[in-house]
Amino acid sequence: MIFGQTTPFLLQLSTLFLAAQATTTLLRVPATVQPVKGSIVLNFGGPGEIGRATLAGSAVPLQALSGGQYNLIFFDPRGTSTSNIPFTCYNTEYKLEKFADPQTTLDADDEAALGRLWTRGTIDTNTYAQKHNVIGTLIGTACTARDVMSIAESIGDDGLLRYWGFSYGTTLGATLVSMFPDKVDKVILNGVQNPHEYYHSYADIEEWEVADQSFSGMFSSCVTAGPDKCALVKSNPNATAADFEKSFFDLVDTLKMHHIAVGGLMVDDSLLYTLAVNSLYATSVWEDTTSIFDMLLTGDIDKTVFLDFVGQVVPVDNATLLTIGSVYTALEGIHCSDRAPAARAGTFEKILPAIYELSNTSKIAGRADMSLTMTCAQWKLDAKERYEGDFQVRPKSPVLLIGNMYDGHTPIKYAYNVSAGFEGSVVLEVNGYGHTSLGLPSLCILKTTASYWVNGTLPKPGTVCQIDAPPFSNITWVNVFEQIS
Ligand SMILES: *[C@@H]1O[C@H](CO)[C@@H](O)[C@H](O)[C@H]1NC(C)=O
Ligand SMILES: *[C@@H]1O[C@H](CO)[C@@H](O)[C@H](O)[C@H]1NC(C)=O
Ligand SMILES: *[C@@H]1O[C@H](CO)[C@@H](O)[C@H](O)[C@H]1NC(C)=O
Ligand SMILES: *[C@@H]1O[C@H](CO)[C@@H](O)[C@H](O)[C@H]1NC(C)=O
Ligand SMILES: *[C@@H]1O[C@H](CO)[C@@H](O)[C@H](O)[C@H]1NC(C)=O
Ligand SMILES: *[C@@H]1O[C@H](CO)[C@@H](O)[C@H](O)[C@H]1NC(C)=O
Repeated sequence: MIFGQTTPFLLQLSTLFLAAQATTTLLRVPATVQPVKGSIVLNFGGPGEIGRATLAGSAVPLQALSGGQYNLIFFDPRGTSTSNIPFTCYNTEYKLEKFADPQTTLDADDEAALGRLWTRGTIDTNTYAQKHNVIGTLIGTACTARDVMSIAESIGDDGLLRYWGFSYGTTLGATLVSMFPDKVDKVILNGVQNPHEYYHSYADIEEWEVADQSFSGMFSSCVTAGPDKCALVKSNPNATAADFEKSFFDLVDTLKMHHIAVGGLMVDDSLLYTLAVNSLYATSVWEDTTSIFDMLLTGDIDKTVFLDFVGQVVPVDNATLLTIGSVYTALEGIHCSDRAPAARAGTFEKILPAIYELSNTSKIAGRADMSLTMTCAQWKLDAKERYEGDFQVRPKSPVLLIGNMYDGHTPIKYAYNVSAGFEGSVVLEVNGYGHTSLGLPSLCILKTTASYWVNGTLPKPGTVCQIDAPPFSNITWVNVFEQIS
């Protein structure tokens, strides 16, 4: 049995902050197979995701995917809400106001709305500059990379780096590998961002290149899955995927002018876009998402089911608001302070072309990035340290990059972009939708990552893993583990 045990240990680690000595709390999930080969430090992205809280949902698959012979180390990166230097916002009311702002309803042709968003960014950046003028300079990725390295050096292994990053965790990972190439033992970057774009662009535009295609994939998979699995087909058996997608956008247009109430929730076009963007992250939400769309299209709304699902995605109560809001402020603080000064437009007129380009790149997701783009363009707190190199290194041992062919948030071309700079690295392609391969149960992925961690074996360049859980199926990682135990 190489999975199933997740009893964590708490460890305290003193880390040298640039300003002060502080402590990082680590959660360690012990290896389940002897001999233990060391520890892997993990980061789940955002930036802003709280590492330790992610433990519950991911430790079991990660143990299996790493072959069981490694301890897994979860930590809360600086800036995140439960770290020792949180980059928080003012209070719950502020968060409510921020999220009540029509962030996702923005049309790039509504210049008045864009102007309001710019001013919102002015207020935020001024407030952050006053409130966090010290912390705000210490939460950049280069500092976190030094924390990860000091974790690796303090946990009693050989002092080399074993790291696994997802999404933004790949930017942290690419930074780590580039800052400490001689320390690399094993590193997997999964759901790879383009670190050049992350640090040096006005906006993360290309990140959304596959978003609309991935969204269309939800409707074609729905038609393939059929009426038992997809409510849209049940209601409308003869419609095509293109018909369903068109009815989604017609519904958006209707709700823009005529909001409807479901319980205490106002359902508008913004909410639909939020659900659409949410659908890019994991195919596991597609059954519920299409079912919600079907309720709105047919008018036959099960209020409890509707609010239960939607409540997990949009902040309808204080608890969700606090969870989503606390990740979002850390994301702003980390990403904006990382952005090089030359990548901060500074004026509304100078940022507008990037906003238009975002909008042109993805109908559904471009608008979701406009708020961050406007805020970062006016950011006042510069990271004390930033990796200034070109991400061209020869690491001590080769890095494995993993990308999904239809990842709506990080296109596979990014994995190749980073791979081109890391000598000896290999890209594993996964034939699936969703962001990172963690949500795609697959024996092929399991065997590939386990043999990398345990034996250092890289897949042949050009390897494509098929997945064992098509969208709208109920197959999970547990079903995959059953095949090997
Ligand atoms: C679907 O198509 C079949 C065969 O063309 C037809 O008999 C049926 O009435 C159609 N159903 C609906 C709901 O349009
Ligand atoms: C939500 O938080 C606000 C501000 O802290 C508080 O005034 C309000 O009572 C809370 N609402 C609920 C339902 O807990
Ligand atoms: C965006 O697309 C519109 C047409 O839809 C075009 O006129 C405009 O030049 C494009 N802008 C950018 C920045 O690509
Ligand atoms: C990687 O991406 C950056 C920024 O988009 C680009 O300038 C660079 O040429 C790309 N490198 C490769 C090898 O594709
Ligand atoms: C590692 O290599 C050994 C020897 O070839 C093999 O028996 C074992 O199955 C490999 N482990 C993994 C996880 O691939
Ligand atoms: C998964 O779905 C199949 C067919 O739809 C069903 O027979 C099976 O019982 C389900 N399994 C679980 C674990 O829900």
